[in-house]
Amino acid sequence: MSRARILPWLNLTLRSACSLCRAGFMEGQPQGLPNPAEMENGTKPCGEERPSEIQETTVTEGAAKIAFPSANEVFYNPVQEFNRDLTCAVITEFARIQLAAKGIQIKVPGEKDVQKVVVDLSEQEEEKAEMKEGANLAPGDQPRTAAVGEICEEGLRVLEGLAASGLRSIRFAREVPGLQSVVANDASARAVDLICRNVQLNGVAHLVHPRQADARMLMYQHQKVSERFDVIDLDPYGSPAPFLDAAVQAVSEGVADTGVERGLSVPDCPRWLMAISHPQALRIVLHSLDLRANCYQRFVVPLLSISADFYVRVFVRVFTGQAKVKASASKQALVFQCVGCGTFHLQQSWVKFSAACGPPVAPECEHCGQRHQLGGPLWAEPIHDLDFVGRVLEAVSTNPGRFHTSERIRGVLSVITEELPDVPLYYTLDQLSSTIHCSTPSLLQLRSALLHAGFQVSLSHACKNAVKTDAPSSALWDIMRCWEKECPVKRERLSETSPAFRILSVEPRLQANFTIRDDANPSSRQRGLKRFQANPEANWGPRPRARPGGKAAGEAMEERRRLHQNKRKEPAEDPVQRAARLKTFPCKRFKEGTCQRGDECCYSHSSPTPEDAAEATPNDGPKTPYQNPPGPGVATGPGVD
Ligand SMILES: C[S@@+](CC[C@H](N)C(=O)[O-])C[C@H]1O[C@@H](n2cnc3c(N)ncnc32)[C@H](O)[C@@H]1O
Ligand SMILES: *[C@@H]1O[C@H](CO)[C@@H](O)[C@H](O)[C@H]1NC(C)=O
Ligand SMILES: *[C@@H]1O[C@H](CO)[C@@H](O)[C@H](O)[C@H]1NC(C)=O
Ligand SMILES: [Zn+2]
Repeated sequence: MSRARILPWLNLTLRSACSLCRAGFMEGQPQGLPNPAEMENGTKPCGEERPSEIQETTVTEGAAKIAFPSANEVFYNPVQEFNRDLTCAVITEFARIQLAAKGIQIKVPGEKDVQKVVVDLSEQEEEKAEMKEGANLAPGDQPRTAAVGEICEEGLRVLEGLAASGLRSIRFAREVPGLQSVVANDASARAVDLICRNVQLNGVAHLVHPRQADARMLMYQHQKVSERFDVIDLDPYGSPAPFLDAAVQAVSEGVADTGVERGLSVPDCPRWLMAISHPQALRIVLHSLDLRANCYQRFVVPLLSISADFYVRVFVRVFTGQAKVKASASKQALVFQCVGCGTFHLQQSWVKFSAACGPPVAPECEHCGQRHQLGGPLWAEPIHDLDFVGRVLEAVSTNPGRFHTSERIRGVLSVITEELPDVPLYYTLDQLSSTIHCSTPSLLQLRSALLHAGFQVSLSHACKNAVKTDAPSSALWDIMRCWEKECPVKRERLSETSPAFRILSVEPRLQANFTIRDDANPSSRQRGLKRFQANPEANWGPRPRARPGGKAAGEAMEERRRLHQNKRKEPAEDPVQRAARLKTFPCKRFKEGTCQRGDECCYSHSSPTPEDAAEATPNDGPKTPYQNPPGPGVATGPGVD
């Protein structure tokens, strides 16, 4: 991620409501968008079956079996399985909370009966308890439950706005209990045909209702309080921006008195994210979402925000409330970042209804003397509800058979529970060490030094080299100065005006202690959880939009993908980035004790932990520049989740 990438991003979020929508209609023009005359707004009748295409593939994912025209593989992206599994897990917890408030217990496949699990009764007592329970009920009055695949009259009304093959909706219907209905909508006629066929194939026609409409129009038609959806899932190819305005108005209201809220989930899309730097996305998406909600006296409360593979996905609740909306202004911040050493400072725009004073930095960086770049605005509040994340984590950990990607869900959510909630930005190990051209301390050494000095430190689920800390930048640079003393950098190689020279010419005031502490090793890492995914498959990455032209076009495109895989030349990688990226790989010669290059070696000389070795090696390193974003080095934006 280069410095320059911050700016287009910010332009996007800063655009006015009108231009955002207009941009949406131009850029977000869906593939195969039927002409308006063809567009229907009623439930799509699934009666007339088309003759099935000559070649067809079926894929099983979760409890759904989906037919795809194999001519057009873009309809199924297996890498998104984690995303869909996680979404099922999140909506299940949401349904559990929501329905419990109405006295309905959801029955999750694989979970034992809650009463029997929670209360560890002896058999006799259990019998007594069951008898008592029975005694309290009027004859014929069963405790109310909701199971998967059946309509729950008081359950959640779900909209999947961009449903493609219907896979996600069908999985909701077959795997998430407590649903009243699922509308599976897509603008493309071909997609809706496919949805209809798959709905029949899976026997969920009673729950899943295919629709063909522009998702925005559909959501605008559901603004009336009584017609809103309880869950809206949006999974666009491009920017989610065009959908935010309609979405924040079509999602039902939080139920404040029970403390239980309704939700909305908005993920982000690959293509758009590739143009901007991926770790920055979450907080900017949250900020733009809140901004849209604010227009309608509503505001968002994040439940869970994930940056994974090539996309980000945020789960938020939406509430109405004038007073709270006013407070939204103080949830956003700008970032000042030094272009020389990468040190950043947050600047809130508002503090308790009055304009904040600033800037938080002098014109020249206190550490290296260079200028600052301005970034943001971004969401500066916590991005997860840890209580809710804990529930999802608990449910998935105790029932791992439920999802194919349970292990990864467990790893990622565990890192999230360890993240410092009040520290929005992070540095990366590589960025810190490449700024002063020194060797890279191990993550444990740096974390230990911060803890010894009395600060907090955590990872970020968005980046495996992240250093999130409440230490002031002066303390962080002192620790790096002390580290450099242990593996000195040759001063004569440094230009006197370089950030490295300036930083290293100051004596540290803090005496860093790099002795490894037990508590420096995050528990998720100690337990060996699967936390940061290596590239999952050969052709991994976002799928292109479906294109007219059928099979031949599809094949030609796959061929192009194959040709370009690992060969993305444009934009050419910046030398600084390349150096930083190489530095994240352990040096083989150094391991064997034969590397002569010392500090000059382009590979890392820090001893890799077994996990690091498993997660990144020179041979199966990042396959595109977008995953495992390279250590930013001197010329990058701050890591933001
Ligand atoms: C990334 S795919 C959705 C994948 C799906 N959610 C899943 O998990 O399998 C995006 C879909 O959005 C549809 N689409 C694009 N713009 C749309 C719009 N304005 N309204 C409705 N659907 C749209 C496209 O036809 C495409 O099928
Ligand atoms: C769609 O809805 C509009 C407004 O409710 C209506 O005028 C139109 O006839 C509908 N179109 C179809 C195909 O149902
Ligand atoms: C560093 O920390 C270790 C473990 O707490 C301690 O034994 C050691 O004395 C410390 N070293 C310094 C120089 O303070
Ligand atoms: Zn600086």
